[in-house]
Amino acid sequence: MRSKIVAGNWKMNKNLAETEALLTELAAKLPDTTAEVMVAPTFVNLATAVNSLESSTINAIAQNMHFAESGAYTGEISADMLQSIGVDTVILGHSERRAYFGETDEILEKKVKTAITKNLRIVFCFGEELADRKSGNHFKVVESQIKNALFSLDKSAWGSIVLAYEPVWAIGTGETASAEQAQEMHAFIRKTITEAYNAEIANNVSILYGGSVKPANAKEIFSKPDVDGGLIGGAALVADDFVAIIKAI
Ligand code: 13P
Repeated sequence: MRSKIVAGNWKMNKNLAETEALLTELAAKLPDTTAEVMVAPTFVNLATAVNSLESSTINAIAQNMHFAESGAYTGEISADMLQSIGVDTVILGHSERRAYFGETDEILEKKVKTAITKNLRIVFCFGEELADRKSGNHFKVVESQIKNALFSLDKSAWGSIVLAYEPVWAIGTGETASAEQAQEMHAFIRKTITEAYNAEIANNVSILYGGSVKPANAKEIFSKPDVDGGLIGGAALVADDFVAIIKAI
């Protein structure tokens, strides 16, 4: 059975004091839920977040990771470093990493493999740009992003994968994909995985939707059968909004 997940990607927001304040508020207001709740603060505050959430069910996760084990990669963070502070999950392939930091499918495939080898769980992001959707290419683009980075994995690795469909045109724009558009793409992703692997793997992988999820639209998006939760940006920075989104699931 796949799990329901609500994850907050804080991106490059919240300094130390703000991180502590938001975590304290979230932990206090966290509703009773069977969904997994995750937050991804910036690296400098990640260890603080892990410690401050010790008695909470909220999981502090990383926004990124390098593929190398260690070495001369100034400014980068390794899987071992994440594990050494108690982090068990990493977001990989976010469209902002792809667009602004040159992360290609090839790089992401390496990162995914390292994370799997190091027993980290992965929230793997992908999604088409507006031009792809307008030209009707969105299914092809999504299929190739998933295939290039993930389809060389062994079947056994899929238990460590969570997928996050984030259409680039819906990120931070206030324009969300409709619940129907999300469902249509998520069903397509499951079909693609069924063809490459099998129905069991496809049915057991959680597929999150990300892109302008807000308290007002979360319930409708989460009501779709192939949408297992959300990866939340802006609304995850406000405790009451994030809590309302968790309640929606
Ligand atoms: P917004 O919710 O701000 O659109 O961001 C989505 C996102 O990129 C989460 O990773």
